[in-house]
Amino acid sequence: MGRFSSALVLAASVTQVLGLCSHGTFLHPRAEEGGSVEVKTFGYTGEIGPLFWSALEAPTNSICSTGTRQSPIDMTAGTFNMVPASDVEVNIPDFTEGTEFENLGTTVEVVAKPGGTLKIGGKTFELQQFHFHLPSEHLDNGTSRAMEMHMVWQSAEQEIAVIGTYIDVAREGETAPVVAAPVAAPVAEPAPANVTAPVLAEPAPAAKSRFRRKSRMQAREEAAAAPPATLAPTAAPANGPSTLLETVFSLVGQIATPGTVTKTPALVLSEFVDLWRAGSFQGYSGSLTTPPCSEGVHWLVSTQTLRIMPSTFERVRDVIGYNARYTQNAPGKQNVLQLGAERSLGLAAAAPPAAAPPAAEPAATSAAEPAATAPAAEPVAA
Ligand SMILES: *[C@@H]1O[C@H](CO)[C@@H](O)[C@H](O)[C@H]1NC(C)=O
Ligand SMILES: *[C@@H]1O[C@H](CO)[C@@H](O)[C@H](O)[C@H]1NC(C)=O
Repeated sequence: MGRFSSALVLAASVTQVLGLCSHGTFLHPRAEEGGSVEVKTFGYTGEIGPLFWSALEAPTNSICSTGTRQSPIDMTAGTFNMVPASDVEVNIPDFTEGTEFENLGTTVEVVAKPGGTLKIGGKTFELQQFHFHLPSEHLDNGTSRAMEMHMVWQSAEQEIAVIGTYIDVAREGETAPVVAAPVAAPVAEPAPANVTAPVLAEPAPAAKSRFRRKSRMQAREEAAAAPPATLAPTAAPANGPSTLLETVFSLVGQIATPGTVTKTPALVLSEFVDLWRAGSFQGYSGSLTTPPCSEGVHWLVSTQTLRIMPSTFERVRDVIGYNARYTQNAPGKQNVLQLGAERSLGLAAAAPPAAAPPAAEPAATSAAEPAATAPAAEPVAA
């Protein structure tokens, strides 16, 4: 809580950055343009990739390469504070009329209907959109996950909060949820009746499946005790695929081309809210993971995980391709791009200028050493 308060203070300093250059462009490009989907010009590979973001639109994006509270990060102990779900008040009305699902070139994004709110630390944020990264951008204590969903919220003061939720691929044997028929556009290809994708490593001792059955039974009991869902009893079984994600992603083939948009059927958002409530959040103050990389973003990474069917994962991967920014330094530490440039220059200055014969010294070895043992790197360490 204390840590989050300081994050809120920090956010004030970045409000102007957001207001100045980017309001209305990166959060929900369609809403204010009313027309076609704006396709982003940055990318994830080569010379439009994350190493070049600050140069793509200078000086607007300069904090991408200089900021010391950049996202994503490796969520290891000490980089975040645990935020109990009870400190975070989330309310998202179901999108009963459906909504737009669009391809921005850099991600696929669901535009939010008005009315979703997030309250934390006395501040209120309104839901704008949610989009997806593949693989996950944050690392879960050193481990990449299949995907990550970012649910983006904005306050009246234009501060940003993002709830990150990891998405894993469901194991073979988990049944697919029944996906509601779309109201507008028909689904291009029917969902497979069973899982034909390559089988994931399956630890199948009896103890494991018994454990799974038991936890599902517990979930059923809890569900029976819980008040009924508002729209329909479509909640996915514990550890089963997310009904909401399966519904949205069943349409991803319709927006395979950047700049295209489609309409979703009704979406039951309470599924996400219930999931988050059953866990807690890893909170820290970071940044947007896309240009302009503005800092002061209130990150809340859920300890709960969503799941999708293997075939669904493959469909989404065929459209998104790859869209994860590389892991940034821990909050408060020097930007890794700056650090890397300084150390590279230091090593270059120390190295004999290409005169040494190949056999003379294992240059590769010394470059691979930790910087602390390379004297040349010392002077530049800030
Ligand atoms: C994170 O990983 C380290 C080792 O890699 C382990 O010691 C630690 O217990 C893990 N922390 C959590 C919260 O899982
Ligand atoms: C499930 O997949 C197997 C293997 O591809 C196939 O033989 C079987 O017919 C499928 N079952 C259904 C119900 O589609």
